[in-house]
Amino acid sequence: MPLVAGVDTSTQSCKIVVRDAETGALVRTGSAKHPDGTEVDPRHWWDAFQEAAAAAGGLADVAALSVGGQQHGMVTLDADGNVVRPALLWNDNRSAPSAEALITELGDGDRAAGAQAWADAVGSVLVASLTVTKLRWLHDNEPENAARVAAVALPHDWLSWRIAGYGPAGDPTAPLGPQLDKLFTDRSDASGTGYYDAAVGEYRADLLERALGRTDVVLPRVVGAAEAGAVAHPSVAGSDVDGGALIGPGAGDNAGASLGLGMTPGDIAISIGTSGVVSAVAPKRTADGSGAINGFADATGNALMLAVTLNAARVVDAAREVLDVDFDELAELALQAPPGSDGLVLVPYLEGERTPNRPDATGTLHGIRLATSTRPHLARAYIEGMLCGLADGLDALRAQGVSVERVMLIGGAAQSPAVQQIAPQVFGLPIGIPEPGEYVADGAARQAAWVLAAAGDPNAVAPAWSTTIATTLDADPKPVIREQYAAVRDLA
Ligand code: XUL
Repeated sequence: MPLVAGVDTSTQSCKIVVRDAETGALVRTGSAKHPDGTEVDPRHWWDAFQEAAAAAGGLADVAALSVGGQQHGMVTLDADGNVVRPALLWNDNRSAPSAEALITELGDGDRAAGAQAWADAVGSVLVASLTVTKLRWLHDNEPENAARVAAVALPHDWLSWRIAGYGPAGDPTAPLGPQLDKLFTDRSDASGTGYYDAAVGEYRADLLERALGRTDVVLPRVVGAAEAGAVAHPSVAGSDVDGGALIGPGAGDNAGASLGLGMTPGDIAISIGTSGVVSAVAPKRTADGSGAINGFADATGNALMLAVTLNAARVVDAAREVLDVDFDELAELALQAPPGSDGLVLVPYLEGERTPNRPDATGTLHGIRLATSTRPHLARAYIEGMLCGLADGLDALRAQGVSVERVMLIGGAAQSPAVQQIAPQVFGLPIGIPEPGEYVADGAARQAAWVLAAAGDPNAVAPAWSTTIATTLDADPKPVIREQYAAVRDLA
């Protein structure tokens, strides 16, 4: 049986799964940490990938692999393939004023018109996360670095390129050298740059020029959903396999998770990770001028509609820190307080916020009284506030006409008994919790299996690996939670 590997180069770590290409059975795994911070030298991703591959028993026997990764990060390369400066990640907010400037400029001074024009052009109103805003920031704040940029890639593109053997001139781990024209990407990740229109499948050089002031930079070639972008260098993967290991197009992490979960139109995934993401697959992207919904692409040819919050799993971590408890103790505490926490409400903008777009906001606790000054009330307020932010995202998807037939809750925090009890109260819907897993890496592995099959038969479809829903939670609406939250959210 051929083996395939899926890689998730995420914000916090690199995770690798090796699976049987036909059945999807899990064979081996490995992982390694990434450094903290919103600005990271991509070399750390390469080191973590190598460490994770070694932990997974090496990749010599895989016939194909794909890389899913954190979206939007700005990886700038000079003509020798060196990174120009550390990558600015999706959660780095320094380019918020650049986003505003680009919006107003496209609207000829009219912000609302500009917001709609960006949504029409690329599916999203600009926020600091999107790559194009980071390029404008570079242009305005580090002109010498901006002048050295010869290529712009995303985290997953750059890692795929390194796996193929390309990289900085003179680097012994990059035997094929700095061939920038060998960079490749996929529709899903390109759709998060702010200079690619997934509806027509073309880069928008005019929008790139608005940010960087020029267009003479290499952008990764966008390959098809089941097309190999390169062959892995045998020193990295595939040395035991005839013809080597194909490298699939890869994907942005949210599109990777959607492929890993086997999502189709009507499915909603709510992911509580470093970012909070409410996502839906739709046949066609919308153009939400309000900015609540990003109209990205998925990894199969559909659109991927996302509402993304900056405050998710780390709000749960913050609650643990404040209360000095572990994950299980936090859940126990939270479940001792009633729904609505007797009026104690956390607006959880601890890292600013992206949806709604409030990059400079801070979190706020409302309704502190003697009676609510207890550890259980506080624990519950943190969890309810975080889930209310995601519920607002689901409402925004509905407002765009997205159909909601099945809701899945994923991410580490979805395993918390408190999250499992409170989520059906906040969302007022039945919720499925899939078996815990590395959905992004799994989606990448599924894509790799598809690429392998398509190499023999161009009409091959993605393999039908199934996702098991481990627990189904009944709807248990408690409207008070969201009513209280809505009453104070905009005071923050
Ligand atoms: C999506 C987004 C985040 C990152 C996290 O737009 O910014 O979900 O992809 O990895």
